[in-house]
Amino acid sequence: MVDFLGGREMLASYEREVRASGLRERLLDKGREHLAAVGGSGHSLGAIGYTEGTYLYAVLRHVRPQVAVETGVANGFSTAFSLLALERNGEGHLHSVDLPREVGRDYDPGTFYEGEGRAGIPSGSEPGWLIPPELKERWTLILGRSQDELPSLLDRLGMIDSFMHDSEHSFDCMWFEFNEAWPHLREGGVLLSDDVNSTEAFPRFVREQGRRPTRLARGMALLQK
Ligand SMILES: C[S@@+](CC[C@H](N)C(=O)[O-])C[C@H]1O[C@@H](n2cnc3c(N)ncnc32)[C@H](O)[C@@H]1O
Repeated sequence: MVDFLGGREMLASYEREVRASGLRERLLDKGREHLAAVGGSGHSLGAIGYTEGTYLYAVLRHVRPQVAVETGVANGFSTAFSLLALERNGEGHLHSVDLPREVGRDYDPGTFYEGEGRAGIPSGSEPGWLIPPELKERWTLILGRSQDELPSLLDRLGMIDSFMHDSEHSFDCMWFEFNEAWPHLREGGVLLSDDVNSTEAFPRFVREQGRRPTRLARGMALLQK
């Protein structure tokens, strides 16, 4: 990670930027709101942690994507860190695909993958509801399953600079997303994934590409093209 960013001082300066933004305090505050709204329902925030978020921020500050794509928004933790990076870069746009699970709503059996960690958004809210509104200018949200929405999104975008998976952590979905996104990634672009240890998809994809991944924090890694 430190090597990828070009040294420890680069990481430290990105960490200072995130601290100075006040995003951590906002997310803690909104996390408490989420708990008050959905606590006891069996749903979670499903969010990446602060350390992972800071690393995601650092990667996107370093890569400076013009076109960034991610799957899996839920309440909006990873999206907020990504959008903060784009704002600080002063360029780029993030396209996110999410099939939200609203707490208290009934869904047809099979709508969500059984092994899903039951990330839920409060009743009546939108995916990414906790993202600071001023960061949303560089954001487009597409609602639906990534299996349905990702191919046409990528076709519309052509080449992309970064891709992040954090939607359905089944082997099939992860494998599908990595293989859809990779041909659209420019040389030097990055494919990031959370929960890389949850299935064989990431290690197998890495082996097939014959490249070395960069481990970020707890379960998160990237592969540079
Ligand atoms: C782990 S959460 C995302 C957490 C988010 N990245 C964060 O850091 O706060 C996964 C999200 O993907 C959604 N999801 C589940 N299956 C999906 C699918 N097939 N396509 C797109 N989104 C899906 C879930 O409902 C949830 O909103």
